[in-house]
Amino acid sequence: MTRKILVTSALPYANGPIHLGHMVEYIQTDIWVRFQKLRGNECYYVCADDAHGTPIMLKARQEGIEPEELIERIGAEHREDFADFHIGFDNYHSTHSEENRYFCTLIYERLKAAGHIETRTIRQAFDPKMDMFLPDRYIKGECPRCGAEDQYGDSCEACGATYTPAELKNAVSVISGERPIEKDSLHYFVRLQDFEPMLKEWTSSPDHIQEEVANKLAEWFEDGLREWDISRDAPYFGFRIPDTEDKYFYVWLDAPVGYMASFKNLCDREGLDFDEFWAADSEAELHHFIGKDIIYFHALFWPAMLEGAGFRKPTQINAHGFLTVNGQKMSKSRGTFIMARSFLNHLNPEYLRYYLAAKLGGGVHDLDLNLDDFTARVNSDLVGKLVNIASRCAGFISKRFGGQLAEQLDDPALFHRVSGQSETIAQLYEDREYARAVREIMNLADQANQYIDEQKPWVLAKEEGQEARVQAVCTQGLNLFRTLMIYLKPVLPKMAEAAEEFLRLPAQQWDDAQSPLLAHRIGPFTPLMTRVDPDKVQAMVEESKQTLAPAAAPAVAEGPLQREPIAEPIGIGDFAKLDLRIARIAEAAHVEGADKLLRLTLDLGGETRNVFAGIKKAYQPEELQGKLTVMVANLQPRKMKFGVSEGMVLAAGPGGEDLWILEPHEGAQPGMRVK
Ligand code: 2FM
Ligand code: ZN
Repeated sequence: MTRKILVTSALPYANGPIHLGHMVEYIQTDIWVRFQKLRGNECYYVCADDAHGTPIMLKARQEGIEPEELIERIGAEHREDFADFHIGFDNYHSTHSEENRYFCTLIYERLKAAGHIETRTIRQAFDPKMDMFLPDRYIKGECPRCGAEDQYGDSCEACGATYTPAELKNAVSVISGERPIEKDSLHYFVRLQDFEPMLKEWTSSPDHIQEEVANKLAEWFEDGLREWDISRDAPYFGFRIPDTEDKYFYVWLDAPVGYMASFKNLCDREGLDFDEFWAADSEAELHHFIGKDIIYFHALFWPAMLEGAGFRKPTQINAHGFLTVNGQKMSKSRGTFIMARSFLNHLNPEYLRYYLAAKLGGGVHDLDLNLDDFTARVNSDLVGKLVNIASRCAGFISKRFGGQLAEQLDDPALFHRVSGQSETIAQLYEDREYARAVREIMNLADQANQYIDEQKPWVLAKEEGQEARVQAVCTQGLNLFRTLMIYLKPVLPKMAEAAEEFLRLPAQQWDDAQSPLLAHRIGPFTPLMTRVDPDKVQAMVEESKQTLAPAAAPAVAEGPLQREPIAEPIGIGDFAKLDLRIARIAEAAHVEGADKLLRLTLDLGGETRNVFAGIKKAYQPEELQGKLTVMVANLQPRKMKFGVSEGMVLAAGPGGEDLWILEPHEGAQPGMRVK
């Protein structure tokens, strides 16, 4: 039976360019959608720009333009990037649209009528100069407890203290530099707790949510669900809440509604039935592909809103992990923070589609784009294995047989072995186990190449009376190639199109792989994929350094000494109080809920210490494991939000991703004192 399926990817913010981190999700979704279409399902893929919120409003101000102009420009760039990566949206819209205004209002009115909305006055930081309330992320200052600088308005990452922005010492508005004041404001809330029983049940089904995600959600349920603040005060770029003068829907309310709005826009254009997909009793499927950082919004707020407003809930939320490049977080200074456009300027987008597919599983693990491995893998699989099958057979067919394929296969059993894998591979695509699907397909490509190696058409071609065999062997090879190309069509749509053109075939569907192509005239062979040129990969990295480095560097040329002059002199006695020791990083791990911290287990050669270090932006835990470093061993243990920190590792640099921890020369042993 033909399934009706609506698919979405998360809506990118309209305040900056698309980078390769984003592309993981769009490529993952696009492969799934193309696969569904290839199987003959009625599948629609919609997306939009996420156009509202404070950052977009401020960026437009900074550029001296209206937000509408900014989102228009960025939207056009996004569309171009996606199109060039062959992301086949059926519709790409904007959350700043009439359809979205309509559905946000409708959902809000229905929630209100059902008693799920309440209002309450809250006290909030306010920037008197900008005349606006400040989200916590727009306030910085010194921690009232430990004095750490540059901390956000709600909590200290150094000592774990939580506080109100008013308690922050020397607090400033990040926008104006002004000291914030406190002010009251009426806010609107959705009573999420009203939906708790429904959400608990809904999220407990592995059909809806991956198991690892369900475990995370269980923790949130333990804390209890509370009202969700859905209003923001003017000035705000968004939709005004009905019956208010100066209250706007928070961007995270209108963003997921953007999925509906984009689909409505498509329905109106193409005469589709919106209700068939969104009515409470809809039998169509609804799949959301998202990053693991926005699960809360999609697995709790969104189903609650839908339920409360009388719409259907999603069929499945598919969360994925983050992208690292060369084993580390994407970094501007290393040139690995790669924009989609920079990739496109140098490399074929299908290289990335293939490489990511070859690494993507159905879980939420992070995945790594190792640039050397990328080059080797694409060249070996796509050029060395896949194209090789066709290129070794095509010449004989066109030169000796005028492009005509034989009437019989040389080895029907082999053909059936390859076409017989169709359902296994289909199930892997269905389950988003692309890496396993690719492995299966490449395994079949190996078998095809082995067959050609054994039959040696180039030897047969020189022998008398072997004409028919040459034709049959090459027909066999090209049939195997065609089948594999159908299997890879969701991943490599352009290459598959070029192969169809070469084989003189109409657009292939999944089941076409079942019947061999015989007594059929093909076209001349053209190279279907060229090798990845390592120089171009390097050029892309260089471009990424150049486009981004200036923004990362300080505005005025100044060195570390100018930024932080050398401190007052101390006596040797003061220094002797510091007990610095060599430590081996026995273990390094992420800390749940902390943006800046890694948890290090330091081995001092006899005893171990647990230390929380603010180095998460600069290091992946794997990079540190087993390395030696220097720690302050006699620092008073400090109780932090995440546990007790028993010391400190030494590091240099301004912070963020520009931080380098100390490592002794070879020979130093854990426990040795540094003096
Ligand atoms: O996290 C983000 O980038 C958001 N712009 C995603 C929104 S997804 C959906 F809810 F619209
Ligand atoms: Zn602190």
